[in-house]
Amino acid sequence: MKTDIKIFKTPSDLAEKLALDIVMRINDSAKKGKILTIALSGGSTPELLFSKLGDNFSKSARWEFVHFFWVDERCVPPDNTESNYRMAYEKLFRKIDIPLCNLHRIKGERIPEKEAFGYSEEISEFTGSRRGFPVFDVLLLGVGEDGHTASIFPGNLELLASNKICEVAVHPVSGQKRITVTGKVINNAKLIYFLVTGKAKSGIISRILNDPQSSQSFPASHIASVSGTVYWYLDEEAGRLYNMKSVVKD
Ligand code: 6PG
Repeated sequence: MKTDIKIFKTPSDLAEKLALDIVMRINDSAKKGKILTIALSGGSTPELLFSKLGDNFSKSARWEFVHFFWVDERCVPPDNTESNYRMAYEKLFRKIDIPLCNLHRIKGERIPEKEAFGYSEEISEFTGSRRGFPVFDVLLLGVGEDGHTASIFPGNLELLASNKICEVAVHPVSGQKRITVTGKVINNAKLIYFLVTGKAKSGIISRILNDPQSSQSFPASHIASVSGTVYWYLDEEAGRLYNMKSVVKD
């Protein structure tokens, strides 16, 4: 497994570069006539990326060759301000020409246990499989200040080893139920991009990247693509405490 850490001056520089990287992968896949599966995270960090994709590439990416999935979703209706789908729709999907059937929304309004099963089935139907688990071509992750990723929180490390594709998780502070893909699905992805910005994340980033051994309690520390590359796209604020010796400046 390869790790590639890139630090950008600003969140905007990071989002512009990552948007370009993603669009290049989409168009390369389209040239081969192949569908590209991309699993998105939610939260606030990806908003800028989604806006750049929608504002700058609505006409230059072959969106019809992309199937979008989610890494996790809050158990709320799609019009709820907490919905990851709603955020992605507002920032990206309403600006591009993509068939609705290419957007595989986690139905947060359904009974969580039923949706966890149903979404597992939907993922399996549209993705390849390897080692018994679905394979996403590209998967975008964020990191919480507590070291969670997707909706795998500290204290729920068992979700990293689950043999299910999706599970129901509970946010440790709000108690909000979530649907999340599990660690084996995440690590099965061909390309994993961590997207982390802001000073508040500098501590967790430093612990995860500088001292993986002592950060085993953080779910994000356990993310390692079994066959591809994990990219860490950081802005200078999030990367400020990271050991700069081995940083690839962009
Ligand atoms: C979610 C995300 C979650 C997110 C982190 C970071 O549903 O909230 O999938 O894993 O990536 O919590 O969130 P921020 O980008 O808001 O800091």
